[in-house]
Amino acid sequence: MSPSLTVRRIAAHQGAVLRELRTASLREAPYAFDETLEDALLAEASSFDETAAHHASSSSTATFLLYTEGHPAGLVGAFIDEAGTQRAFVHSLWVAPAVRHLRGGELLVNAASQWLADEGATEIHAWIADENRTAKRFYERLGFGPTGDRRMMPAHAEEWETLLVRHVHNEEQDAPGTA
Ligand SMILES: CC(C)(COP(=O)(O)OP(=O)(O)OC[C@H]1O[C@@H](n2cnc3c(N)ncnc32)[C@H](O)[C@@H]1OP(=O)(O)O)[C@@H](O)C(=O)NCCC(=O)NCCS
Repeated sequence: MSPSLTVRRIAAHQGAVLRELRTASLREAPYAFDETLEDALLAEASSFDETAAHHASSSSTATFLLYTEGHPAGLVGAFIDEAGTQRAFVHSLWVAPAVRHLRGGELLVNAASQWLADEGATEIHAWIADENRTAKRFYERLGFGPTGDRRMMPAHAEEWETLLVRHVHNEEQDAPGTA
């Protein structure tokens, strides 16, 4: 039987959970992210506590956690670029290998997208490493398409990433799994 998957916004006390998931994602899929495992391991535990507290209550940035049978098994970040373009982004998406292909990634992206839409976003952006073809197919299947923007990846010299976008429709507010 497939495990049941649920998504909830991070709580203020979950800094240790955030650190565990973030380091697991950077260890398992280093090619996918703009941060390195070394960066995350060097960061003080208190910085994850501060991030969790901020992401639990901010109106411009949040983290959502995936649970399988109550155990943390994935995450996604979301933010609105208030300093610059006002564009909304999802980022740092990761699902533990043991629970992939069960729509956990889709639940996470939809929860983050609904939250961004509730905060006023009409378009959701995501930077995808060009070599990460799995993530590109995943996002395309969710309706993300090209913006034409590309850039070098901050954490990986010589690697490029591409900006995708999904327009937020009204029905997205009612998408399944976005509670
Ligand atoms: C991308 C990722 C989050 C998808 O998570 P997931 O829970 O498996 O996603 P879902 O079950 O919601 O959707 C899976 C769909 O994505 C695509 N997909 C996922 N893995 C794939 C693979 N290895 N090959 C091809 N397509 C794949 C397919 O469309 C797939 O549909 P299917 O399961 O019916 O074949 C997960 O593979 C992951 O964490 N990868 C490593 C980190 C990463 O790349 N993050 C994205 C950073 S931009």
